[in-house]
Amino acid sequence: MRLPLPLVLLLLLPPCALSSGMAKRSYSTHDYYVLEHRPLGHASLDECVSRLGLEVIEQVGELDNHWLVRRRKAARDVSARTTADPVVELLQSLRQQVQRGSTHARSEDLAVAWRVSSSIKYLEPQAPRQRVKRAPPPVRPGDGDVKSNAREVASRLGIQDPTFTKQWHLVNDENPEHMMNVSGLWEEGITGSGVISALVDDGLDYNSDDLAANFFAEGSYDFNDHEDLPTPKLFDDHHGTRCAGQIGAVKNDVCGVGIAYDSKVAGIRILSGPISDVDEAASLNYGYHNTSIYSCSWGPADDGRSMEAPGYLIEKAVLNGIQNGRGGKGSVYVFASGNGAQHDDQCNFDGYTNSIYSITVAAVDFKGLHPYYSEACAANMVVAYSSGSGNNIVTTDVGKNKCATTHGGTSAAAPNAVGVFALALSVRPELTWRDLQHLCVKTAEMINPEDPDWETTAAGRPFSYKYGFGRLDGYSYVKAAQAWEPIKPQAWLEIQPVQIENGTMDILGTMSGGAPITTDGVKNIITITQDMLAQNNLEKLEHITIRVWISHTRRGDVEVELVSPNGIKSVLAARRRYDATNTGFPGWRFMTVKHWDENPVGDWTIRVNDQGSEGEFGNFLGWTMTLWGSTIDASKAKLYEVPVVENLLPPPHEDAVTTTTTPVVATATTKSYAKPTSHLPTDHGSVEGEATKPAFTNKPGGATPTAQDDAAEATETIPSESITPTPDEGWFPDMDNLVSNQKWFFGAVGAVAVFGLSAGIFFWRRAVNRRRRAQYSTLSMGDDVPMSSVARDRGVSGQGTKELYDAFGEVSDDDDVDEETGLTGGRPQDRSPGGLGFHSGFLDDDDPQSARATQTSYRDEPEDNDRLRSHSTSSSRVESPSSSGTGDGSWEHASQQLR
Ligand SMILES: *[C@@H]1O[C@H](CO)[C@@H](O)[C@H](O)[C@H]1NC(C)=O
Ligand SMILES: *[C@@H]1O[C@H](CO)[C@@H](O)[C@H](O)[C@H]1NC(C)=O
Ligand SMILES: *[C@@H]1O[C@H](CO)[C@@H](O)[C@H](O)[C@H]1NC(C)=O
Repeated sequence: MRLPLPLVLLLLLPPCALSSGMAKRSYSTHDYYVLEHRPLGHASLDECVSRLGLEVIEQVGELDNHWLVRRRKAARDVSARTTADPVVELLQSLRQQVQRGSTHARSEDLAVAWRVSSSIKYLEPQAPRQRVKRAPPPVRPGDGDVKSNAREVASRLGIQDPTFTKQWHLVNDENPEHMMNVSGLWEEGITGSGVISALVDDGLDYNSDDLAANFFAEGSYDFNDHEDLPTPKLFDDHHGTRCAGQIGAVKNDVCGVGIAYDSKVAGIRILSGPISDVDEAASLNYGYHNTSIYSCSWGPADDGRSMEAPGYLIEKAVLNGIQNGRGGKGSVYVFASGNGAQHDDQCNFDGYTNSIYSITVAAVDFKGLHPYYSEACAANMVVAYSSGSGNNIVTTDVGKNKCATTHGGTSAAAPNAVGVFALALSVRPELTWRDLQHLCVKTAEMINPEDPDWETTAAGRPFSYKYGFGRLDGYSYVKAAQAWEPIKPQAWLEIQPVQIENGTMDILGTMSGGAPITTDGVKNIITITQDMLAQNNLEKLEHITIRVWISHTRRGDVEVELVSPNGIKSVLAARRRYDATNTGFPGWRFMTVKHWDENPVGDWTIRVNDQGSEGEFGNFLGWTMTLWGSTIDASKAKLYEVPVVENLLPPPHEDAVTTTTTPVVATATTKSYAKPTSHLPTDHGSVEGEATKPAFTNKPGGATPTAQDDAAEATETIPSESITPTPDEGWFPDMDNLVSNQKWFFGAVGAVAVFGLSAGIFFWRRAVNRRRRAQYSTLSMGDDVPMSSVARDRGVSGQGTKELYDAFGEVSDDDDVDEETGLTGGRPQDRSPGGLGFHSGFLDDDDPQSARATQTSYRDEPEDNDRLRSHSTSSSRVESPSSSGTGDGSWEHASQQLR
């Protein structure tokens, strides 16, 4: 007894209408910003916004203290696009007023300026991103023959869906060892009921008879058009619907079935038009109390040239999902590895797949071979089935009763994994996001054992850059989930960045110093001791993130690898033929899962080398490493916080980060979203896969070097003094400046006693930090820089501000320098229209040409690259600080000539 669809919709509509209090955006009439307010600051949110001439629209998604604010565009702003953003400028001027202690300002104004600027932690103009049209659909696959196994399963389970027998990823008659292998679970009644997955994509056709009954309207939203339902509207809005069908297509008489055919699917539409970071952040937390899994088949362009990571707001949203989603068990984020392997693209260069919070899924095909498009990297966790070797994925399509037969790419691999995770959560809803990752590592099955890409990890598991830990087998996964003992909470050990030969990167992204890179490689070592693990409550290793600072005239020539104390090598960056970008790796973060369960005690060696090409060169400036794993003592578990700034070398002093009051002002983030899918050719379904080539062959040599060799070489390469702490340069010289520059402060606040007390705390904390850092045998100059000079105008800041330290955050002995270099908003040198962007900018591809191609794009179907490029817009995000650096032949400048 099915209700007529209109009636169903009517019943669904009222809750939808209530579910989102989100306002429509009107970028043509208003300028939008995200403002992070310090709730314990001195000024209320109302005071802050009214001083800046803004109005509050709504909270940013599920992020506390983050507000979407706006102001009406003034007519003259339209023409004045080259000048800095007026609101950013105003905030800058308030800050300057405070820093100069402007003698001519009335003390009342000064007090307001101080209150307001100290209560704003972060301000980021929002700009919509441009959508990019997609190319014609791919070729039709060959006829899928109806074979007996599939028919048998269908009759046993009463499956009448007409195309079920063509869904080889569910039951593969020709290659029975290659399928998601879930029918055995269905027979046990495990079909996903109670679990909701959200397709963060281009819409979801809830009118499809194959999806309507499993559609979860409450968790759905259209961030492109700011409507409650994710209606596919554009001619090519069918990607989200197809992915949804793979997970939750209803068992009925329409098309096929989903892997978790009794689970619910929600559609979150973000890829069909302009969207800014504020909405991407909200989309990744949308409905996160009820929605368990977010299926994301998009990322930076798969062109072998892009390198891009999520900005501050998006990182915060993902962490918010991990910490507070699903009742605290953590939202499960699943990302496709990318379709650019034929362009030497690697998921190492994608900040979403590189995130420890996402499960990265690559593809294998109908025959279990590696399809030529599927990207390899050290962050790959598992593979799931998708197009290749003659077959595509058959799933639901947009329309009342329509099937898609051309679906594929890693885009289709990710939802197949999501379907399996939904089955697992339906029987074990209490498992955390990390339990699900552990289950991937432990149950994935090796395929193509003769493939030279396989290596054995220290924990004895096979791992490959192409296949991760292997194929995700639905049956094994869910059986293991049923018996799984939940793991202890997360702990981590963060190493202070090591500077190599005085390598530095400043707030503008300008790099200097460092060891010249040779073809033999520059090496460096970080030593982990048992003590460090104990101090950080870290018991068992899971992920490792590595941050590198490397300058190079041709980024694609650079190879980076990490060798563990046990001789296990993770290739983090392999050669990329098409990546001629000259912006290097400005604090870029890699991730590897290859050391999962390895004992991390001992020397970790990083090696950076290049191809030795004529006229191409660079320096290795520094690196750092964070080990993530489980706690020793669960009761002492902490929650991680996203730092506002993490790319400076040396890093800003901890005290500076946590105590400054100057707000961070970021540029508008306007990267474009491409439609599905760039860089996946039309033959993705027909071309035979392979299982005979290693994914990467980094020089030098194929053999894994032993830890001893590396240690010996490393000590030769890097002078020992470069890894010892610098001497204390003292703090008192800065005191003088402080006193002379900041008379206003003492007058206005009358806080000399307070000042003395906070100086005491400062010294004490610094001593503690220095002791700790010395144990890591790393070098950090940040230690001795007074927090004020680091934090000065750029407003390096953090949470947990104490009022005492607020005083330091504003003092600066560097005001004059700032004036010369024009770092503050509104100066002509500041080319970012949004003001001072340094957070999101650093991780972006600064090269204008390639940045134009860094649309976040789908990964399933072909796209004409030229069209793609011409429809996407370049953005102010491109003009991140590294590209707006001071002239003088820095890396950033040469970029324009090269491309
Ligand atoms: C698929 O699941 C069945 C149980 O239904 C199991 O016996 C079999 O080993 C699994 N296949 C593979 C290739 O792991
Ligand atoms: C979603 O979650 C909230 C909070 O846990 C709960 O109150 C609500 O009933 C849920 N809604 C649905 C449709 O499950
Ligand atoms: C690093 O800087 C220190 C102090 O400025 C200097 O003495 C030393 O020679 C520098 N080392 C290198 C390798 O440039």
